[in-house]
Amino acid sequence: MTKVLINWTDKYSVDYDVIDNQHKELVGMINNLYASFTEGKADEIVEDILKEMIKYTDYHFKMEEKYFDKYNYSDTKLHKEQHNDFIVKVTSFYREFNNGSVTITYDIMNFLREWLLTHIQGSDKKYVAEFKNKNVNIV
Ligand SMILES: [Fe+2]
Ligand SMILES: [Fe+2]
Repeated sequence: MTKVLINWTDKYSVDYDVIDNQHKELVGMINNLYASFTEGKADEIVEDILKEMIKYTDYHFKMEEKYFDKYNYSDTKLHKEQHNDFIVKVTSFYREFNNGSVTITYDIMNFLREWLLTHIQGSDKKYVAEFKNKNVNIV
């Protein structure tokens, strides 16, 4: 039985290595969370993985946003709102999980998966198209 929730394929690539590597890292973290959930790992372990995932997601979002500001990305406002909504949602889930009022479910795992893949293929590819047009280099 496979414990992998997301299989990375080239269709998720945005053609900036730095960004792809960060997205792959996030995919790895979601897979890790999924594995510990399906293997019934202790709450403390799941909690730590979730916490690390939120921290890394925040780091990744801030990096993208730094480039939006620097190059006056036309859809900055909406994109930042999407990032912010995701962080707020996952952080509040983390708190509820932490105080024992909710548990991880397949719905939560699917939400993380769908959100990330939809975001990468929609919103992220949109800024990439504009940046490629402007010959922006992301390093
Ligand atoms: Fe991204
Ligand atoms: Fe993004």
